[in-house]
Amino acid sequence: MEKRLIIAIDGPAASGKSTTARRLAQKLGYVYLDTGAMYRACALKAKQTGLALGDEEAVRAMLDKLDIEIKLDGEENVILLDGKDVSGAIRTNDISRLSSDISALPAVRYKMVELQRRLGSRGGVILDGRDIGTFVFPDADIKIFLTATDEIRARRRWLELKHKGVHASLDNVSEELRERDKNDSARELAPLAKAADAIEVDTSAMNVEEQAEAIYGIVKARMAGI
Ligand code: DC
Repeated sequence: MEKRLIIAIDGPAASGKSTTARRLAQKLGYVYLDTGAMYRACALKAKQTGLALGDEEAVRAMLDKLDIEIKLDGEENVILLDGKDVSGAIRTNDISRLSSDISALPAVRYKMVELQRRLGSRGGVILDGRDIGTFVFPDADIKIFLTATDEIRARRRWLELKHKGVHASLDNVSEELRERDKNDSARELAPLAKAADAIEVDTSAMNVEEQAEAIYGIVKARMAGI
C-alpha cells in the first residue's frame, strides 16, 4: 500500500494555501487540515470573553477551558467552538487580526500545535499554515511554500470578499494583509517562514486551476521518489 504522507503547505496570507490544499486533498483522497481556523476559533473565544491578551493568567484559564473541535471530512473542515459551528463566524476582518495577535502567545501556540500534531501524525493529511514545515511537522514528507506578490494577494482577497458580499477597499485589504504578514513573521516562536527544504512556488501568474495543477505535479513527482 502507498505510504500516507504528511504534506505541509505554508505561506503568507492569501497566497492560495487553502484552495490548493483543499484541491490536493480531493485529488489524493487525503484529509485537509486548516490550522489557521484553529487560531481563528481561539481568537473568537477571546473576543467573546473580552480576554486581555497581556494577562497571562487569564489566557491560561481560557486555554484550560477551551473547547475547539475540528471535524475533518476529506477537504471539508467544520470548526466547532463550545459545540457550536463557527466556520463562518471566524472569517471576519477583526478575527483575522486578533488571530494573528493571539497566535503569537506561546501558550496558545503550544496548545494548538499539540492538537495539530494529534490530528496529523497518522499521515494522509495536508496541513496549511505558517509554521507547518518548520515547527509543527519539521519531518513532513513534502513541504511547499506558496508566495505571490503583495498586489496579487490583496486583489485575490478583495475579490473573495466581494463575492461574499463584503465591501472593502483594495487599499484596506492590502494594508490588512501587510500588517498581518509582518506580525506573523516577527513573532518569536514559530514565525511565518519557509523551511530550508520546502519547495517555493510563486503563484502570481497562475489562476486557481493552474496553481492546483502545478502543486499536484510537484507532489506526484515527489511521491514517486519516496
Ligand atoms: O491562515 P489564516 O489566515 O486563516 O490564519 C489566521 C492567523 O492565524 C494568521 O494570521 C496567523 C495564525 N496562524 C499561525 O500563526 N500559524 C498557523 N499555522 C496558521 C495560522
